[in-house]
Amino acid sequence: MNFIITESSEEMSRKAAELFAQRIRSNPNIVLGLATGGTPEKMYAELVRLHREEGLDFSRVTTYNLDEYLGIPATHDQSYRYFMNKNLFDHVNIPRENTHVLNGMAADPVKECRDYEDAIKKAGGIGLQLLGIGSNGHIAFNEPGSKADSRTGVVTLTGNTVKDNARFFEKAEDVPKQALSMGNGTIMEAKEIILIADKESKAEAILKSVEGPVTEDVPASLLQKHTNCTFILDSAAAAKLKKESGRF
Ligand code: F6R
Repeated sequence: MNFIITESSEEMSRKAAELFAQRIRSNPNIVLGLATGGTPEKMYAELVRLHREEGLDFSRVTTYNLDEYLGIPATHDQSYRYFMNKNLFDHVNIPRENTHVLNGMAADPVKECRDYEDAIKKAGGIGLQLLGIGSNGHIAFNEPGSKADSRTGVVTLTGNTVKDNARFFEKAEDVPKQALSMGNGTIMEAKEIILIADKESKAEAILKSVEGPVTEDVPASLLQKHTNCTFILDSAAAAKLKKESGRF
């Protein structure tokens, strides 16, 4: 595991965007795995800036998002497809057909997930995967206890995640309880992984993921087994790791 510890959430976002931009420049046909949530918003804004001001070219890039709520249409303002369009795809020159987000309204969600796996394989696999982390250590919507080798499928969110995500909805009851999500096994096949985390609320999960045992109880700890994984953290998210590990 590699670490980039930054002073602020802004610096974390800039560093992550720079790294994505480098990879896109050196491989314009790259397949990216993307995440939603509060953490990557400023990183996407920086990628949009790099596109507008420095000509970062997305015309041959392909993307697969990690997850989507079950039962929410793409037009819903809390769907992850809506988030991606609003924060990135609407503002860069990526052909819409190159962007993939699981369909939360699929008539057969299990088939939707199987087809998604097949599509990723056909595209040559994910070259660079962006991850956030849940305060309970989840990656994508793989909650504690999900299998290390799980594949894209229908998952149930824990009460903790519903509570964390309630800030995006009018009422906590509106947060969907199920989602479609890439599996831990799917994520681990990405050639390179960047995990970003800011805020003190992530500090414990970061500590456990890095210094704790590799366990399905903390899905992000599985990343210890990945050969090319970098955590980009702000000082608040890195605080416990800095204090309790001899690494820094
Ligand atoms: C989102 C995703 C989730 C988030 C995580 C952190 O696509 O896969 O695992 O990365 O829940 O969310 P934020 O960034 O809102 O704290």
